[in-house]
Amino acid sequence: MRAYDIIKKKRDGLALSHEEINYFIDGYVKGEIADYQASALCMAIYFRGMDGREITDLTLAMRDSGEVLDVKFGEGLRIDKHSTGGVGDKTSLVIAPIVASLGVTVAKMSGRGLGHTGGTVDKLESIEGFCVEMPVEKFESIVKKTGIAIVGQSATLAPADKKLYALRDVTATVDSIPLIASSIMSKKLAAGDDCIVLDVKTGSGSFMKSVDKSEELARCMVDIGKRAGKKIVALVTDMDVPLGFAIGNSLEVIEAIETLKGNGPKDLVEICLSLSAYMLHLVGKGSVDECKKLAQKAIDDGSALIKFKEMVSAQGGDESWIDDTSLFPKAKFTREVKADEDGYIYSVNAEGYGESSLLLGAGRNTKEDKIDFCAGITLSKKRGDSVKKGDVIATLYTSNPSSLDKAEEKLLASTVISSARPQSNPIVYKVVE
Ligand code: URA
Repeated sequence: MRAYDIIKKKRDGLALSHEEINYFIDGYVKGEIADYQASALCMAIYFRGMDGREITDLTLAMRDSGEVLDVKFGEGLRIDKHSTGGVGDKTSLVIAPIVASLGVTVAKMSGRGLGHTGGTVDKLESIEGFCVEMPVEKFESIVKKTGIAIVGQSATLAPADKKLYALRDVTATVDSIPLIASSIMSKKLAAGDDCIVLDVKTGSGSFMKSVDKSEELARCMVDIGKRAGKKIVALVTDMDVPLGFAIGNSLEVIEAIETLKGNGPKDLVEICLSLSAYMLHLVGKGSVDECKKLAQKAIDDGSALIKFKEMVSAQGGDESWIDDTSLFPKAKFTREVKADEDGYIYSVNAEGYGESSLLLGAGRNTKEDKIDFCAGITLSKKRGDSVKKGDVIATLYTSNPSSLDKAEEKLLASTVISSARPQSNPIVYKVVE
């Protein structure tokens, strides 16, 4: 078998066999197949696509390129939720404690973010002392004691994906459904959960800009999960505008804590209740409607907040910051961004808001970049709100004052004010089971 022939076969639009896919992934991880050949194969897949069987073979080959976590973490089914990523997406911080407070084991491994803001583990690190890097034995003992832990993804999981994703990032081959689906699912399957709920974002702040494309990605991942024997469901949810009012690491943690205290923004609360309901439903806690009520009750009676505090304390974080969020450090420099005309906020380009927060220091351009935990944006107005000229639409936060002009410019260029009121979008567009 030769890498050349495999690339040529896919270039010509033919399906690759199980053996060919395994040969390529194995050779690439061992360094026997060069980066330029792997990028040529990714480009061929980008243009020619793959069928369901090929995508599953690719996913399993990437899963098996490293360790597959086989830890039971106690009785009952283990569940995870994965989001394809968006701006202001802090749902894991709310959902994980809701579900764990209802007796479901959540042993979550989460990636760090490259892009607008950090990933879930970066966000958690904005709590003083919170530790996300630990040996599997410690992770296991925390989960056994508290029923919940969120840690950084082990470097031993799906190394083929790590290598390929870095390559795709610089060869314009990220936004391909077979490649995204196999990348995400290889890591989810390697983490060893029994059940998976996928939050597939759609709109200006996500990989997939249309509902149809997002649904196609959702179906593809659900199909892989089913073929791999998992209980799995995907929700296609709105990411045309940022989620909630906060973008940036500590700002998002504070908003998540407020949501657990019962003071969350409507869109964030709705999506968290829906995703929690499907997680609880998959592990057998009742119908989706019953599970939604259970999730709401876990917020109302404070049990989800207590679970969050237990997790923070077990992972070395300062629990008092949860009771009193004014303890989170504040950004040194702020700027109010004001509307330049009267009207309604007609549209908001979520990606543009994400780029603005990246300029302020909330995310990373490269793996080595350091995150400014206090940096980010809080929105005072969302799509559909009426504004008068001079009203504050957002506030920028940063430790680097020289970033403020560009970040303000980006935010204003990403906001359309019009005399017409926009239609509101649903939060959950589709459920793919
Ligand atoms: N997230 C991933 O883990 N992989 C992709 O390809 C895209 C998003």
